[in-house]
Amino acid sequence: MKCLDKGSVFWLTGLPGSGKTTLAKRVAKKLSEMGYRVEVLDGDWVRKTINPDAGFTKEERALHLKRVAWIARLLARNGVVVFCSFVSPYRDVREEVKRIVSEEVPFYEIYVKASLEECIRRDPKGLYKKALKGEIKNFTGVSDPYEPPESPDLVLDTEKEDVEESEKKLLNFVLEKLG
Ligand code: PPS
Ligand code: MG
Repeated sequence: MKCLDKGSVFWLTGLPGSGKTTLAKRVAKKLSEMGYRVEVLDGDWVRKTINPDAGFTKEERALHLKRVAWIARLLARNGVVVFCSFVSPYRDVREEVKRIVSEEVPFYEIYVKASLEECIRRDPKGLYKKALKGEIKNFTGVSDPYEPPESPDLVLDTEKEDVEESEKKLLNFVLEKLG
C-alpha cells in the first residue's frame, strides 16, 4: 500500500455520455492495483446514495456538487486519490467546487471532451433520445447548457482518442501530479 500524506482531487467534467465514468473507473482500478488508496465519486452513484434528493436545476446541481466537493476534500486530506466524475456543467459552480477542495488539497479540472453529436450517437442510457423528444427537462446539452472549461488542467478528447489512449493520458497525468 502506498501511503500518501495527502491525496488529490481529479474532477472530470463533460457532457452526459462523454466518457467520464469509464475513464475515472479504469484509471482508479490501475492506481489501486499499484497500491494507491483511491475512491471514485460518480454522478449516478452519488445521486443513488448520498444525494437521492438532488434534481437537475442549476441550484440543485450546485448543492449536490458542493456536497461532493466536501466529501472529496475529506477523503483526499487523508491520503486518498479521489476521482469525481460529474457533468458539472456550470463554470461558476465548478469554480466554487475548486475553491472548496483547493483550500486543503490539490484540485485538477479534467475536461472529457466529445461533441454533442457524438454523445447523442452513443446515447448509452437512451436519455438523449428521451430528452430530444421533450420527455426530460433540464437535460444537459439538449434543454440545459454545458459550459466547457476555459483552461482545464487536462483535456481528454474521447472522440479523437480511443479509450486506451485517454486512459493512458489520464493515468500519466495523475502519476505526474502525485509525484
Ligand atoms: S451534475 O450536473 O453534475 O449535477 O450531474 P451528475 O450528478 O453528474 O448526473 C448526471 C448523470 O445523470 C444522468 N441524467 C442527467 N444528466 C444531465 N441532465 C439531466 N437532466 C439528467 N438526467 C439524468 C446522465 O446520464 C448523467 O450521467 P453521465 O454518466 O454523466 O452520462
Ligand atoms: Mg457516467
